Amino acid sequence: MNSSPNITFALFSLLLLLSPTYGAHLSPKFYDKSCPKALNTIRATIKTAVSRERRMAASLVRLHFHDCFVQGCDASILLSEQATPNSERNALQNRGSARGFEVVDAAKVEVEKICPGVVSCADILAVAARDASVAVGGPSWAVKLGRRDSKTASRALAERDLPLFTSSLKEHISNFAKKGLNARDLVALSGSHTIGQAQCFTFHDRIYSNSTIDPGFARKRQQQCPRNVNDGASNLAPLDLVTPNSFDNNYFKNLIQKKGLLQSDQVLFNGGSTDNIVVEYSKNPSKFKTDFAAAMIKMGDISPLTGSKGIIRKICSSLN
Ligand code: HEM
Ligand SMILES: *[C@@H]1O[C@H](CO)[C@@H](O)[C@H](O)[C@H]1NC(C)=O
Repeated sequence: MNSSPNITFALFSLLLLLSPTYGAHLSPKFYDKSCPKALNTIRATIKTAVSRERRMAASLVRLHFHDCFVQGCDASILLSEQATPNSERNALQNRGSARGFEVVDAAKVEVEKICPGVVSCADILAVAARDASVAVGGPSWAVKLGRRDSKTASRALAERDLPLFTSSLKEHISNFAKKGLNARDLVALSGSHTIGQAQCFTFHDRIYSNSTIDPGFARKRQQQCPRNVNDGASNLAPLDLVTPNSFDNNYFKNLIQKKGLLQSDQVLFNGGSTDNIVVEYSKNPSKFKTDFAAAMIKMGDISPLTGSKGIIRKICSSLN
């Protein structure tokens, strides 16, 4: 038999290994040899945290999203104010609302006990988001691994790149496109608003002055979110009024009834180009779940630090 195709293949593989872009390929097997118990260890911490407080599942999914949209999925959001004056935790979109930091730190402590200096905080957060989804009845997916941690954070980039609840559909679509995500990804990922809570100041204007809202729903939300916003700015309301603690497709059914809590929710179903996707997910929960999982993998691929870039932090909230 002619062996030249094998030689070609061997050379090609060698080239791939040597090329600087090789490391950019994340893989679910990344820690299979270097820390085979990493994934089970993270899962145990996340399961405990979510059983203590269901909302933590939502907070962890959001934390991974807010990490990936700023300098890529590099754990930049985890750096505290003590670690860097540029802490992203102080960005408008995070301050007083991003949560779950102590859970990621706790998972890291457990992982460091079994394999010190091996598993990045960015990967722990990506795995935590998946485990959180599963813990509240959401889909599972194979998390691609091999990200490394940033040495920096950027509050300015966070304020520029994280979406605002006041933006239009067009703006959301273009913000997501800048991260390599399309309108379908935007709708699927926004479906994670099937869990978790939002503060009064984020939906106040919508429940008092927006006509694209179910009047009964607006009145109900006004009960805990006073007309004078200063009287209850941080009061919480569930993003999905029907089943706030379980991951399902009620979020999309709410939108069709004009019961989206945030303006950024309702714009996905308000006569625009994404209406048909919302309808599709409202009718087909399993399609929503498979698209959500695929979009989370895609989001997890945003500009990772790989190879010799970045570091493996010892403590997720601080620099080594
Ligand atoms: C499309 C633009 C989006 C906007 C404008 C937006 C905005 C918000 C706002 C304002 C809150 C409430 C924060 C608070 O009041 O403390 C929130 C919560 C949340 N967001 Fe989004 N979001 C968007 C997309 C996403 C995406 C893509 C994900 C996940 C992949 C996500 C996951 C969550 C989760 C799970 C919560 C609840 C967090 C908790 O309870 O701790 N969001 N979002
Ligand atoms: C009302 O909400 C809709 C849907 O979210 C949005 O398109 C519209 O711009 C909002 N109008 C005002 C006045 O805020």
